[in-house]
Amino acid sequence: MDSKKIAAEKAATYVQDGMLVGLGTGSTVFFATQKLGEMVKQGLKIRTVSSSIQSEKIAAELNIPTLQFAKIRGIDIYIDGADEIDKNHYLIKGGGGALLREKILAFNSKRFIVIADESKMVDTLGKFPLPVEIVDFALEFTVANLRKSGAEVKIRQKNGSNYISDNGNLVADCLFNSIPDPKSLNEELHKIPGVVETGIFLNSMVSQVVIGYKDGKIKEMTVR
Ligand code: 5RP
Repeated sequence: MDSKKIAAEKAATYVQDGMLVGLGTGSTVFFATQKLGEMVKQGLKIRTVSSSIQSEKIAAELNIPTLQFAKIRGIDIYIDGADEIDKNHYLIKGGGGALLREKILAFNSKRFIVIADESKMVDTLGKFPLPVEIVDFALEFTVANLRKSGAEVKIRQKNGSNYISDNGNLVADCLFNSIPDPKSLNEELHKIPGVVETGIFLNSMVSQVVIGYKDGKIKEMTVR
């Protein structure tokens, strides 16, 4: 059984008629979007806003109504994956490079449901390199300051060049190995000029975590 799929399809059951739904980015939320596509075909009336151009395209192909990011004021429910989820429900996100839009959607949603397979659950964040969106024109200054914070830093590459986010920025993948205090690290990184956003998502943004297991079981945790 695909553990990502069962978590994603469970989250889709929380979507109701009339909702404005935020769609994240990645291979887990892809299954939720597909399920929502089927539900729309059967008559579900929703509108969506996506955390990436890629996700918006997938939704549009499934005939799910999509809205422009800049026009949205509030979201009923936001569904997205994560790269790591620690025992206190802090997250690392941004493996797909969409962390800035993802954080804006999570922050502005009444309910944020995190979906993942069991491999994403960790005791302490940090084995997955933390994605940090940075401005291009201050690259060397910003990377030097990220290194001072203790990270091994690599600028994300795609097809032999620097990866450019949907917002025109770079992504610095910062390996900390262990992030025992994600809230403090997030504050520290935000003090660096040139940092646009970090992939640390505080647990105060998370409403619910839905984990899918290989044996078909689902674990749901209510966070707030
Ligand atoms: C994209 C993200 C994704 O949610 C995260 O990378 C998990 O991806 P996947 O569902 O493919 O494992 O943050 O920026």
